[in-house]
Amino acid sequence: MKKDAELIQIFGRRGSGKSTLAKGLLKGRPKVIVFDPRNEYAEQRGWTVAYTRTDVLKAMKRNWARGFHIAYVPEAGQEIEALHKLTLICWQAQSPYEDGRDPRKLTLVIEEADLSYPVTRLPADRSGMQRIVNQGRHVGIECIAVSQRPAQISATYRANVATSYLFALAADVDRQEMLRLIGRSHADRLRSLPPYRALVHENGQVRAIEVRQNGQIRPISI
Ligand SMILES: Nc1ncnc2c1ncn2[C@@H]1O[C@H](COP(=O)(O)OP(=O)(O)OP(=O)(O)O)[C@@H](O)[C@H]1O
Ligand SMILES: [Mg+2]
Repeated sequence: MKKDAELIQIFGRRGSGKSTLAKGLLKGRPKVIVFDPRNEYAEQRGWTVAYTRTDVLKAMKRNWARGFHIAYVPEAGQEIEALHKLTLICWQAQSPYEDGRDPRKLTLVIEEADLSYPVTRLPADRSGMQRIVNQGRHVGIECIAVSQRPAQISATYRANVATSYLFALAADVDRQEMLRLIGRSHADRLRSLPPYRALVHENGQVRAIEVRQNGQIRPISI
């Protein structure tokens, strides 16, 4: 079995279309947990909302065979601890993948990732995300981090992503950070992108997309 779960990042200013895109990317993925501080995923049809990790675990167990889409809404102010503990549940749940008994990946979406996986160094007892970034591939955990502020989320995460979706960024420090990744020749484009349009950086190449309100992606010329 090919073990190739990847890391994705979605950045852009407020209201630019990040969560709409994330929801679109999730269609067709069999096992999904969204770390959802603003409680904005559960309104979708077929989703389960959980306010505790015990309820996340219950919903996973109940629906393991047919798959699940779970929105976990952490307690405000406890995001770092809550995400760390959620990663332990995800890791344990994916042991059948590691053993080769279940080929399905688990997708972990981290909304407002600057709250739960910040650029500041975390203590050793909060290293769950770091472990997923470094070794999650082996247990089939892929991640999608979403934030308005790329410069404020973990640099280890940013250094390991396979695909970046960049909507217009409000702060200069965020634009500079992303231009280091995609190249300075995109500076004007990154500043002037209209809403619901993004640059995609993948395999060293940059292309542009439009995101429809239903989350579907359409290529556009840049
Ligand atoms: N292509 C589109 N056309 C029209 N409206 C859209 C489109 N895409 C998204 N929207 C709407 O724009 C609003 C903002 O989109 P979305 O929530 O995806 O932005 P966001 O970047 O996640 O914002 P935030 O930073 O606040 O989390 C939503 O009400 C969404 O339904
Ligand atoms: Mg959003």
